Amino acid sequence: MQIIHTISELRAWRKTAGRVAFVPTMGNLHAGHMALIREARQHADRVVVSIFVNRLQFGQGEDFDRYPRTLEQDAQLIAAECPEAVVFAPDERELYPHVIQQYKVEPPAIQDELCGAFRPGHFRGVATVVTKLFNCVQPDVACFGKKDYQQLFVIQSMVEELNMPITIIPVDTGRAADGLALSSRNGYLSEAERAEAPRIYHHLTRMRDAILAGERDFARLADETIADLKQRGWGDVDYVETRNARTLKPAVHTDHELVILVAARLGKTRLIDNLEVRC
Ligand code: PAJ
Repeated sequence: MQIIHTISELRAWRKTAGRVAFVPTMGNLHAGHMALIREARQHADRVVVSIFVNRLQFGQGEDFDRYPRTLEQDAQLIAAECPEAVVFAPDERELYPHVIQQYKVEPPAIQDELCGAFRPGHFRGVATVVTKLFNCVQPDVACFGKKDYQQLFVIQSMVEELNMPITIIPVDTGRAADGLALSSRNGYLSEAERAEAPRIYHHLTRMRDAILAGERDFARLADETIADLKQRGWGDVDYVETRNARTLKPAVHTDHELVILVAARLGKTRLIDNLEVRC
């Protein structure tokens, strides 16, 4: 497995690499990322995994400084899973040489909803860095996790509307045995918080089962979840919403493909998760 730190070296490698599948990450890899890498392998001759903690997508007071940076451990995991992979790990000066990125990719109104309402500028930062990474790697396909459902939606619509010649492959959310969605941020949880965290998945499945049984009062289902999390000592529940899985518009009774999305704070940690429902 090869680690490449510069764009020029990556471009030289790319010339002879054939069909390339790309997995952008911020590192601190876990089994959820590994599933993306396994999926990527099915679609191309070579896999590129990028590891870059993107300052542009973190807001003031968010966890950019303490975000776990574990390149050596990540490289070992990738080498074990996919020995022929290339890791692209640029430093900040390589990707943002002018310190301030002046050209930004501006997503449409969805960037201000759901997570965007609580993380202003987040999806602009994601769309911008993903565009830059796409331009560096020039992949044929790129894998994104459904764990970050709104991010996947933004990237899919960006690629479509900006005519980027890249096929986006969505990958199912990897979960721990107790249902908690795997996330680099789970490492912030105390033992007691880690035991409590699967409560989100509990409510996602509860809401899904109610919808499958015919319930269509999405607001009532959300209120029950919010009340329970509050009562159990969770911090801010940023949102619990049921939306159309394809358009991410608020769900209406006649929708058949839904997604329930949750973001809530447990102690200092912000957790997000979602579950698709076909009904
Ligand atoms: P990061 O949080 O490291 O996630 C990298 C990719 O792994 C994303 O596509 C994310 O959806 C996926 N992923 C994370 N946890 C997952 C899980 N439990 N199951 C399946 N997929 C999972 O998302 C980012 O980084 C950044 O925003 C990035 C796209 C790299 C841009 O900076």
